[in-house]
Amino acid sequence: MAEAGANGDRNEALEPGRRKLKGLVLAGGKGSRLRPLTATGAKQLMPVANKPVLHYALEQLVAAGVEEIGIVTGDTADQVRASIEDGSAFGARVTYLPQSAPLGLAHAIITAREWLGDDHFCMFLGDNFLKGGITAHALQYMTGSACAQILLKQVENPSAFGVAMLDDGGRVTRLVEKPSDRISDLAVIGVYFFGPEVHSITPHLVPSARGELEITDAIQGLIDAGHAVGSSVIDDDWIDTGKKDDMLEANRLVLATLSRRIDGTVDADSRVIGAVVIEAGAIITRSSIRGPAIIGAGATVTDAYVGPFTAIGAGCELLSCEIEHSIILEQSKIRNVDRPIADSLIGREVVVDRSPVRPRAIRLMVGDHSVVDIG
Ligand code: G1P
Repeated sequence: MAEAGANGDRNEALEPGRRKLKGLVLAGGKGSRLRPLTATGAKQLMPVANKPVLHYALEQLVAAGVEEIGIVTGDTADQVRASIEDGSAFGARVTYLPQSAPLGLAHAIITAREWLGDDHFCMFLGDNFLKGGITAHALQYMTGSACAQILLKQVENPSAFGVAMLDDGGRVTRLVEKPSDRISDLAVIGVYFFGPEVHSITPHLVPSARGELEITDAIQGLIDAGHAVGSSVIDDDWIDTGKKDDMLEANRLVLATLSRRIDGTVDADSRVIGAVVIEAGAIITRSSIRGPAIIGAGATVTDAYVGPFTAIGAGCELLSCEIEHSIILEQSKIRNVDRPIADSLIGREVVVDRSPVRPRAIRLMVGDHSVVDIG
């Protein structure tokens, strides 16, 4: 029997057969579609409503009763460790599992083999954002008899994902990674449940065309070996936060759930409308903030407008500018920009400023793979 966790008997509901569910969170990977922001930073630490996307995965695992979590890391291991530490802030015990190279999701399971032992586990891709959490799915897996369970979501662009075909009972019959033909519109989302049977499959996988050991091949191997693989098709919002617009959408979804909280300072000449969080130490002067929006700790907003679905990171400075539907990471400065900024993802310690120097040209120093869209 598993030990009682910090939250008393929350594991009871998950352990009708006294099985234990570990969490395996994947936080390696390159984040190439979010460069240059991910050239130095882990994509799993990109903020959604000022909180790293990876933190939502840990919170949701803990909410489902998972207490032991292994985090598979790559080149950005130090940043991931600094952000999560020993997991106690989340109510979890975290073990770090360095992956030798980003050789695929099934390779991450091989990396974690010893730590996983023969326990059941929920594998959660650290850049996936699932609005409704995983508790109901964990319960379905732990009370069922399938030796693996996947979550599926109907999508318009199935060729960007692994896809699944089901029989009438919802059992998975076939999986294909990034199919060129439209064989199914059910995308495999980045939360999977496995029993120890998967370890008899992973050693025999061969790299795919993109040089990775694919998780879809591992699950297909389970099916081919006669194991039952269950599924649930979700209605909840799910976002693979690999690209700018996906980050903005995840940000929008979380901000839409905010409750108003003002811990910072708002002067008498400012207007704060709707669901706005202003963290401690933030100072709002002669400005309008229209929620849902969040202003990070210690940020200053002066003679500016912050519109809906905007997250301003800690320590940012906004001066004489207008911004909405955007994410700005910590310590950036946006000053004296007379055109509204929208639909933007701005990294850490960025400076966007107006210069008195003539000619009134746009002078740029932007990193590799940056996108500047001048409207
Ligand atoms: C991976 C999986 C794919 C799944 C997707 C979900 O794709 O290989 O089956 O649909 O995650 O985010 P990748 O992000 O490695 O292209």
